[in-house]
Amino acid sequence: MRQQQHPGEVIWLKSTVSTNAELKSLAASGAPEWTTVVSDSQSEGRGRLGRSWHSDGPWGLWASILLRPAIVPEKAPLLGIMGALAVVRSLKALAGLNAGIKWPNDVELDGFKLCGVLPEAGFGPSGLEWVVLGIGINLSEPPIPMPEELSGKAASVERLSGISIQRPVMLERLLKELRSLYNSYMSDGGSSLLKGASSSSVLEGKKITVLAGGNSYEAKAIGMDEFGALVVEDGSGARRRLLSGEVSVRRS
Ligand code: BTN
Repeated sequence: MRQQQHPGEVIWLKSTVSTNAELKSLAASGAPEWTTVVSDSQSEGRGRLGRSWHSDGPWGLWASILLRPAIVPEKAPLLGIMGALAVVRSLKALAGLNAGIKWPNDVELDGFKLCGVLPEAGFGPSGLEWVVLGIGINLSEPPIPMPEELSGKAASVERLSGISIQRPVMLERLLKELRSLYNSYMSDGGSSLLKGASSSSVLEGKKITVLAGGNSYEAKAIGMDEFGALVVEDGSGARRRLLSGEVSVRRS
């Protein structure tokens, strides 16, 4: 299926192990930018920090989008933030929802996680060659309830708002928002993207608990820097930069 106006091919599968895994192998064999893989079901959907992503049925949009940005690898985390902001904007446009971004890439509504983003990068002799932006959005409730450890934290758009968004509609809007944010990122280096993400942040100015390598500490979230790191102020007033691959945060 080729989406109208979408500059890349959309490959919509019935099932796969993971759309990120599928698209990473296409990326490595030279697939063009904006190639998109969607699947009704993933048997081993992947999340951040080695977690799994519950997606073995069609109750959400499970999609991966290929980008080939001309940026230094240190600025790749901004693409994850861009994915989350594109989802926030899509949910606003399609359903009037005021969802927010929980750093680095989660989209939340009323404190429940609706969406997660998993960016994965590939490198070559010239540096960053591609980024696969994996986006999972819980649109409706799964027939078998989510595992207990998720049910208090995650929810679907339909459960929280009563609004049902069809997956092709969500995909089309998401790709549109992504293209517009990506163009602005490539032209201004990320400043307007960061401004948008900051105004949608659910953490900025809040007290948070930082979990890093088995340790945890209390801090105040200050904001994101130009590399997409979260700047926090710890109890002693010292500022620290948190990198998305290393830590997770929760509201205190
Ligand atoms: C997270 O919050 O931990 C990130 C979840 C990312 C899930 C999406 S679903 C589509 C794509 N394919 C995957 O295997 N993972 C991402």
